[in-house]
Amino acid sequence: MRLNSSIYKSLFLVGPMGVGKTTVGKLLARELSLKFIDSDQEIEIRAGADISWIFDVEGEPGFRERETKVIDTLTQLPDVLVSTGGGCILSENNRAVLKSRGVVVFLDTSLDIQEVRTKKDQKRPLLRGVDRRAVLTEMKAFRDPLYHEVADIKVFVGESSSKRVVASIIDKLKVQNFIEDKE
Ligand code: S3P
Repeated sequence: MRLNSSIYKSLFLVGPMGVGKTTVGKLLARELSLKFIDSDQEIEIRAGADISWIFDVEGEPGFRERETKVIDTLTQLPDVLVSTGGGCILSENNRAVLKSRGVVVFLDTSLDIQEVRTKKDQKRPLLRGVDRRAVLTEMKAFRDPLYHEVADIKVFVGESSSKRVVASIIDKLKVQNFIEDKE
């Protein structure tokens, strides 16, 4: 399988924390012969520090600044699948580059699933020491319209396996002519 467009061949995954962007992204990248890159991981590599440290020292604005730079760089690479951090769509600039430089896939899920999947989470500063359900609910209300605004396709991730999610993404990409079967 290959992406149909010869210019914008990259694919960007957006969606909330705990939806499984990294797991699904790795599988999907393999299926589509794209190079998988996780934007949070790239931020950590460039900073030489983890996300929690960046939030502690520079606050969320410092993290967002780094995120915007990394998104700008990664979205210009050819043939990549970039899995983005849940809040990257907050920036108008990020939304614009994602939308104009590739195919954007919104992985959505329920608050119940997010709550379960982020339960033992120590890595996400925005969920540390807070009422997680309340924070996730508030984020969903604010961010969902932004995910929709930027997305070419949306796939709901329920209890089904990552393999099924990948198959469903590929089906939708085909229906919308973003990919075609190999001859
Ligand atoms: C964030 C999501 C995280 C990470 C950071 C902020 C957010 O990424 O970028 O902790 O604002 O939703 P994941 O969506 O991969 O957890």
